[in-house]
Amino acid sequence: MHTLPELPYPLDALEPHISRETLDYHYGKHHRAYVNKLNELVKGTDYENVSLEEVIRATRPAPGHSSPVYNNAAQAWNHAFYWQCLTPQQGSPQAGLQRALSAAFGSLDDFQQQFSRAAVGTFGSGWAWLVTGKDRGLEIITTGNADNPLAGDRVPLLTCDVWEHAYYIDYRNARAEYLDAFWKIINWDFVAERYGQLHESSNAA
Ligand code: FE2
Repeated sequence: MHTLPELPYPLDALEPHISRETLDYHYGKHHRAYVNKLNELVKGTDYENVSLEEVIRATRPAPGHSSPVYNNAAQAWNHAFYWQCLTPQQGSPQAGLQRALSAAFGSLDDFQQQFSRAAVGTFGSGWAWLVTGKDRGLEIITTGNADNPLAGDRVPLLTCDVWEHAYYIDYRNARAEYLDAFWKIINWDFVAERYGQLHESSNAA
């Protein structure tokens, strides 16, 4: 049985950047629906009691095909990850992460501009990601609909949900304004921790 993780902060904690009404719908209805639907689809199967990551890796459909189990498992994972990428406490990236972002993209500001451009330019529903991997540098990628970068050797460090349900109540069709707000509520400690874990595990390998 897959469960809806608790939101790491109260529903109104991200105001004024993301409203209580948005979180109430986005977490309380959309995210919950993905988890409930997944449980309905996997009832009595091998996917009932394994991690979401395992379900995602096992059910990823071939290009041009679709898998309702994959879609709901990936959306359940993506949303849980997205909530952790956000925080009401404003901060900035730790020195090591900032150096890595500057080395890869020019500067922190350049990184944010490139990420925003990718997010705003994503056609239709999807996600923008900062990813890395043991043998790769930092990259910005986007995925459509439910898709995520968990397959292969990519490790997600940060994501932005660019489905309309993430911003339409607060910003209507102005996705760029939502991105401007997004940068004010990033949980840089979470991003740095994930980046640090990967760095440590690749040093140990
Ligand atoms: Fe969403």
